[in-house]
Amino acid sequence: MELLDGKFVSEKLKEEITREAAAVLATTGRKPHLVAILVGNDGGSETYVASKMKNCEKVGFKSSLFRYDESVSEAELLAKIEEINKDSDVDGLIVQLPLPKHIDPEKVTETIDYRKDVDGFHPVNLGRMMRNLPCFIPATPYGILLMLEEYKIETSGKHCVVVGRSNIVGSPMSILMARNAYPGNCTVTLTHSRTRNLEETVRSADIIVAAIGKKNFITADMVKDGAVVIDVGINRETSTLTKSGYKLYGDVDFENVAPKASWITPVPGGVGLMTIIGLLKNTLASAKKEIY
Ligand code: GUN
Repeated sequence: MELLDGKFVSEKLKEEITREAAAVLATTGRKPHLVAILVGNDGGSETYVASKMKNCEKVGFKSSLFRYDESVSEAELLAKIEEINKDSDVDGLIVQLPLPKHIDPEKVTETIDYRKDVDGFHPVNLGRMMRNLPCFIPATPYGILLMLEEYKIETSGKHCVVVGRSNIVGSPMSILMARNAYPGNCTVTLTHSRTRNLEETVRSADIIVAAIGKKNFITADMVKDGAVVIDVGINRETSTLTKSGYKLYGDVDFENVAPKASWITPVPGGVGLMTIIGLLKNTLASAKKEIY
């Protein structure tokens, strides 16, 4: 078994991004600029957004955070998005999900100018992704592709089983792995809560992408010898044993699955760190006007 080491790859790619951000500053006089909107006080969202902002600063981007109380109206939020859309100093805009129940995430996503949608959630970007056209690719799937590329993992002709059909990870991942591209050219099965024979299907996978959000859901008996295992899960459990007060678990029972896998991502230290890289690369591409 070998590790797909998110720490190593993300640090290496951050160095590359830092150099490119410096070149953007030298030629245009401005830094790539990411704006994040955070509504409410969800513990996970707080951590993710803080990490996104910190990493922007690290690679020489400008970052701005707009925080709203849980009670903010949908109209007020949409008005802020419209304002940021028009601001020529902003390259990328993300609204951290999940949002409070009274705010429609579809409306929010579609209000973001697709040319600044560095999360890649806007229907224009998703449609262009399906057609293999230049677009912003959702950050987590993008990060996984970069990881597979870094380790030169063979994907062509392989059976990739994606577990979980979320808009953010599972659904776009299934499309990307089936595209005529590298990484890609897989035969893809997208599985979810209604899938029959889920265990048998996962057992037939050469590449498993686990994005269910359930601790240790993928057990050793579901994994074929030599499979590549990508664990997208970030399941937080409170713990008195760590400084942060919680401990992270993946969707994969790492301890028992790892001995069977050819390659596997750890949690933490795997896909989570690569998600940030996907976001930074999209923001950089936006600042360089590479896509739109
Ligand atoms: N919530 C969980 N993952 C993500 C993400 O990639 N982007 C945003 N905006 N919210 C999220």
